[in-house]
Amino acid sequence: IAERRQLGTCGAKEVHGATIQQHTVGFVPTMGYLHEGHASLMQKAREMADTVVLSIFVNPIQFGPNEDLDSYPRDEARDLEVARREGVDIVFLPTVAEMYPQPTRTKIHVSALTERLCGASRPGHFDGVTTVVAKLFNMVNPDLAFFGMKDAQQVAVLQQMVTDLNMNVTIVPCPIVREADGLALSSRNVYLSAEQREQALVLSRSLFKVREVSEDGARNTFTIHQIRQMVESTIASSPLADIDYIEILTFPGLEPLLPEQRLSDVKEDIIVALAVKFGNTRLIDNIRLQKA
Ligand code: PAJ
Repeated sequence: IAERRQLGTCGAKEVHGATIQQHTVGFVPTMGYLHEGHASLMQKAREMADTVVLSIFVNPIQFGPNEDLDSYPRDEARDLEVARREGVDIVFLPTVAEMYPQPTRTKIHVSALTERLCGASRPGHFDGVTTVVAKLFNMVNPDLAFFGMKDAQQVAVLQQMVTDLNMNVTIVPCPIVREADGLALSSRNVYLSAEQREQALVLSRSLFKVREVSEDGARNTFTIHQIRQMVESTIASSPLADIDYIEILTFPGLEPLLPEQRLSDVKEDIIVALAVKFGNTRLIDNIRLQKA
């Protein structure tokens, strides 16, 4: 940290004739098994903040009883290498006992925004996310916190929490990082067999099609129903894909749109979000369309 201070990345501000050093802390919360998606958040943090803190904590309370908590992939040594490579200053690796000393009786619940998409398929998941992120914010005390749009609903929910509870932190949403063939990077991709990995390309392919038609000036003509059909038929072309949801909502409000509504009539950003299972592995992806 001392080294970075000398690099002069800190802004200095005059307040009532006194010079105040402004030292910003950027925070990247993760569950580890780091990949280029996580690395992009660290890079953004490195760019915007003086001190970069990374946390690695597989948060048990955001997993459902039949989910993959026990098998969630872990590789601490490799993660620390990635952190070092990306110039992270501090890695915070709490244990479950440190994060949840017993008894713990407080949870944070964000209503409405958590009722659709992954909130509907994973009851309690977002309470686990908001609770742990609030705790981490209190422990790390960051000025900026970096989250990937891969988990777009998570961004919307955390933004709401920060606003509602007057938390003194700015959420910085960062773009989705994809493999060269389009698959969104995820720690869970390691679960996929070669055949599932191949077929999982229908997710991004279906979303890229939506992007294409929406940029084609055709945003005027397509209805929400037609867009949904387009995505569904692309995904259905993969026999191993088991659709959990395909939803088209406003972002960040996550309000549903009527099937007959035309894209051009929606005056807000739109998100096309999907969750699809390949065997036991549930993948999510989304695309955001800027307002007409
Ligand atoms: P995790 O799944 O490890 O993700 C940590 C951060 O990396 C999240 O903000 C996520 O959106 C981002 N991320 C993952 N894949 C990405 C990709 N392909 N492109 C860009 N960003 C990507 O999300 C969580 O952990 C947890 O819910 C957490 C916020 C840490 C709370 O436990």
